[in-house]
Amino acid sequence: MLPPGPPGHYVVGSLLEYKGPKTNLQWTKQFGGIYSVNLAGKTLVYLNTIQLVERYMEGAAGELLLDRPPGPGAIGEGLLFGSGENWQKNKTATMRALHAATFVQAMEDVVHFELREVLQTLQAKLGQKVMVGDVLIGPCVNSIVGLLKGGSLAMDDPDRREVLLISQNLARCDLASLLQQISLKHPMLRLPLSFLFCTSIVNIPATAKRLHGLLRKWIRESRTETDPSDSSCRESAAPDASSASQEKSPSAALMSSQWNFSKMSLNEENESTLQRILKQPEFVKVTEKTDTELIQSLTDFFFGGVTSTLSGAEFVLMYLSKNPDASRTAQKEIDAVAGNEDIRWSMKDQMPFLQACIAEALRLGCVTPSSLPHVALKETQIEGYSIPKGTTVMASIYSLHRDPEIFAEPEEFRPDRHLDSEGRFKQPHSYRPFGIGARRCVGEAMADIQLFLYTASILRQFDIEPADSRSAQDLETHMRIVHRLIDLQCVFTERKNNC
Ligand code: HEM
Repeated sequence: MLPPGPPGHYVVGSLLEYKGPKTNLQWTKQFGGIYSVNLAGKTLVYLNTIQLVERYMEGAAGELLLDRPPGPGAIGEGLLFGSGENWQKNKTATMRALHAATFVQAMEDVVHFELREVLQTLQAKLGQKVMVGDVLIGPCVNSIVGLLKGGSLAMDDPDRREVLLISQNLARCDLASLLQQISLKHPMLRLPLSFLFCTSIVNIPATAKRLHGLLRKWIRESRTETDPSDSSCRESAAPDASSASQEKSPSAALMSSQWNFSKMSLNEENESTLQRILKQPEFVKVTEKTDTELIQSLTDFFFGGVTSTLSGAEFVLMYLSKNPDASRTAQKEIDAVAGNEDIRWSMKDQMPFLQACIAEALRLGCVTPSSLPHVALKETQIEGYSIPKGTTVMASIYSLHRDPEIFAEPEEFRPDRHLDSEGRFKQPHSYRPFGIGARRCVGEAMADIQLFLYTASILRQFDIEPADSRSAQDLETHMRIVHRLIDLQCVFTERKNNC
C-alpha cells in the first residue's frame, strides 16, 4: 500500500492543484513526512524530513533508490539520468578526473576572468535596474567551459557566443510544462503547439545537438593535445573510501564525503579537466557506446550546472538586496580579510558570515526543490508502506529546508543560524541543496567556488538594492530546468560604507 496523499482527479490526478514547491510544503504539512501523489498518471512518493531521507535514501538503504527515470531528450546514459552500472562508471570517471591538485586554482582563474566583465557591466549600469540573470549567465556557462578546456575562452571566440546562445535556450526550457513534454515526445508538434498557445517551446533536441557539436570539437582538440600512450591516471582508483568501503555498498565510494577537492590529487597537474576525462579507463577506448556516454555526461555538465548556479547566484543577490544589514556585515568581513587583494576560495573560512549568507539563500531559494527523481530498483518498504518497483521517489528538499523543528521561523532570512557559538560556519542540518546520497551533485565544488567568488567580489564593490519593494516571499518563481526567480532585477550602487 502506498502512503496517503492528496486525492486528485480522474486522469490528471493532482496536476491542477500542483503549483510548484509551495504545494509540496503544503502537502507535507497536511500528510507529514511521507506522502504519495498522482501527477497526470504518474505516481510520486515524497520524503519530507531529513530523518526519512537519511534513513531511506542515503547510505546502504539508499542503494535501492539510486536509479533515475529516462531523461528528456537524452542520447545516452550520462550523469544526470543514467542508471545502474553505466551511471556508476560515468560518475566515477568524472569525479576522478575532476580531482586534481589544480582544481581550485583552475576554477578560481576562470571565475576571475569572467568576473572582470561582470564588474565592468555593473559599474556601467550603476544606479539602474539590472536583470541579474542576463549578467551572470555568461560567467556560469563559461566557468564550466573554462574548467573543461583548461582556460577561459577569449571574449571574441565564436564558441563563446555559441555556448551562450545554447545556455540561454536551456534557461528558457520548462521541463515541467505539458507542452514541453508533448513536444519532446512528438517533435513535429512543437511549432503548431507554440503557434496555438502563443508561446515559444524550446527545441531541446536541436539545442542539445548544437551543444554536442561544440563538445565533439573540444574533444577532438583535447585528443590531439593529449598523448594517448600516456596512461598516468588510468590506474588511479577512486579515492580511498576506507570508511565507505567497509559499508560494502557498491556506490559508497561515490559519497561526496570521499571527495575532498582541496587536498586530493589523483591526476597530473598540467592537464585540462577534459583531457583528464578522456584519459579515464571508462572513456579512453573510443567505441560508439563510450563516445555516446561521454557526450551525454559532458552535456549533463551544462544541463545540470548552468541554470542551477545562475539561480543560486540570483537567490543570494536577491536576499542580500532585501537584507542590507546582512550585506553590510558581509562587506566588513570581506574588506577585513581580502582588502584589495584578489578574493580566493582559501579565504572562505575567514568569511563565515558570507558563507552563512550564501547557505541561507540556498536554503530558502531551494534551486532544486524536489531533488532529481530517484526510482525504486525493486519493491521497497518505507515506513511500513510498500513502494512498488519503478516508483519515483523524491526528496522534498523544499520541505527539508523549511522544517520548523530545525529552522525556527523558516521563511526568515537569518544567516546566524549557520554559525556556531564561536562564529564559525557550520553545515546546517536538514540542508541538502546539492541532493541526496551517492546521486549528489557532481558540480557542488564548482558551484560553491563560483557563488563565493561572485558574491564576495560584487559585494566588495557595490551595495545591492532591490528593484522593487515586494518582500522576498512575494517574489514570483518558476520551475525551468530548476527553481528560479522570475526576471530578478537589482540595483547596484557605489558602496556607502567603503572601508
Ligand atoms: C547551485 C548550484 C547547483 C545546485 C543547487 C545543484 C543541485 C543538484 C541536485 C539537487 C542534484 C540531484 C541530486 C539527487 O538526485 O539527489 C544534482 C545533480 C547533478 N548536478 Fe548539480 N547542482 C548545482 C550545480 C551543478 C554544477 C555547476 C554542475 C556541473 C558539473 C552540476 C552537475 C550535476 C550533475 C551531472 C548531476 C547528476 C549527478 C548524479 O545523478 O549522479 N551541478 N545537482
